[in-house]
Amino acid sequence: MHIHNLSQEDSILNSFLSEIRDVNIQTDRMRFRRNIERIGEVLSYEMSKSLDFAPKTTTTPLGKSQTKLISDDIVLCSILRAGVPLHNGLLNYFDTAENAFISAYRHHKENPEAFEIIVEYLACPSLEGKTLILADPMLATGQSMVATFEALKPFGTPKEIHLVSVIGAQDGVNFVNNHFGKDTHLWIAAIDKTLSDKGYIVPGLGDAGDLAFGNKLQH
Ligand code: URA
Repeated sequence: MHIHNLSQEDSILNSFLSEIRDVNIQTDRMRFRRNIERIGEVLSYEMSKSLDFAPKTTTTPLGKSQTKLISDDIVLCSILRAGVPLHNGLLNYFDTAENAFISAYRHHKENPEAFEIIVEYLACPSLEGKTLILADPMLATGQSMVATFEALKPFGTPKEIHLVSVIGAQDGVNFVNNHFGKDTHLWIAAIDKTLSDKGYIVPGLGDAGDLAFGNKLQH
């Protein structure tokens, strides 16, 4: 897998990352969602450089302009609910993409530290020959990303796969690295060192879904 960890380079991306991690700033939900969206836009821009392009002539009021435009048929797939702001950021740039949504959640069994990923709702177009962008803002264990990919298999074989994430734990990155092919790309804003006993990324940012949309009752 090709891993592109964008915070290894100094850029404006690090300001957005710092704000979503900051306990004082992240309580502003609108700013939190918009920062995740902005990170999605930066990741989209970087990823776009690896896509396929075809020549296009554009007629301007004064003449013709030759350019090259993305020729991939893109499908953006996100995991509800935390994935929604990241999805919006990706869709702001890949605005003609088709979209897929899946609901996956951690089901805690008797032991509160053990969980399995349950996939429920799934809406997806054909993936045959298309460029699949699979987005999950928090790549903690990597299990949701892999469970989602397994659930998408009946929808066709994509031409290429790009994984997109905001913050990952090194263990989660290793897990997806072992499950996806060597041609898959991972575009990620930051990779943190550890996972807590409860499966949270450390230092991370906390619960991305709650920060974006408010608390939920556990089930
Ligand atoms: N999901 C989150 O929202 N945060 C984490 O740290 C891990 C998974």
